[in-house]
Amino acid sequence: MSTTFQLDTATSRANPTPSPMKRLTVPAIRRRKQDGRTAEPIVMLTAYTARQAQLLDAHCDLLLVGDSLGQVIYGLPSSVPVTLDMMIAHGAAVVRGSYHSVVIVDMPFGAYEASPQQAFESAARILKETGCAGVKLEGGEAMAETVAFLTRRGIPVMGHVGLTPQAVNLLGGYNARGRSEAEAARIVADAKALDDAGAFSIVVEGVVEPIAIAATEATACPIIGIGGSAQCDGQVLVTEDMLGMFERVPRFVKRYADMGAIISCAAEQYAGEVRDRSFPGIEQTYQPK
Ligand code: KIV
Repeated sequence: MSTTFQLDTATSRANPTPSPMKRLTVPAIRRRKQDGRTAEPIVMLTAYTARQAQLLDAHCDLLLVGDSLGQVIYGLPSSVPVTLDMMIAHGAAVVRGSYHSVVIVDMPFGAYEASPQQAFESAARILKETGCAGVKLEGGEAMAETVAFLTRRGIPVMGHVGLTPQAVNLLGGYNARGRSEAEAARIVADAKALDDAGAFSIVVEGVVEPIAIAATEATACPIIGIGGSAQCDGQVLVTEDMLGMFERVPRFVKRYADMGAIISCAAEQYAGEVRDRSFPGIEQTYQPK
């Protein structure tokens, strides 16, 4: 699947590739961590659309088509209802909109947990139909066999431990994990199991900081933190959270912009100009020659 697709018409917005260049690769990301150290931290953001990917691509190493799109794009109450078809449609858009970052697509709830075979079928569809480089799945030791199965068959896998949002019904909410000693040990063991199984990197989400540091020290592959620690090998945030699109965000989110207010203000101005007939003006209308 080509990622340098260009629709060559004057009015199309589908021209995502300013100058085709070599994409980063999964092995290049994995190699960032050498002998337990990552000299250059890995930058990952979520992306769900082609235009968003175009804007983020040059600044990131990885773009994650997260199943958080359930809440962020579709207004669903959690990521549980997200389907494979939704992930594939958005994954393909993000691949079309990017040319530099490694694109990873989340495996949605119900698409991989039953067996390694089920996971392979879902992951193969994702890779074939989106052109992405790998998949992410949630779960620790219980998923190690699946991670090994996929990796041995040519599918790069990013793990995800700690706060695993697809398990919200079991966890009872989105609170930070690892506050008891037993849970802390479990999370580090989960990360280690995925690392041993061949995951090329692992997201550690919503854990008390010493656990994020312990997981980073215990694993050979890069640990990407979200609500973790600056000492992780990289960081990820949900783009809409860091852009300030939502009023309510978790404690670990830093807002780098206030896009929600900018959009609301622009819509208010537009509505006013439509109502007082000052839009469209002479510049926005076609006049007879
Ligand atoms: O779905 C998602 O966006 C994620 C990130 C928060 C890591 O899994």
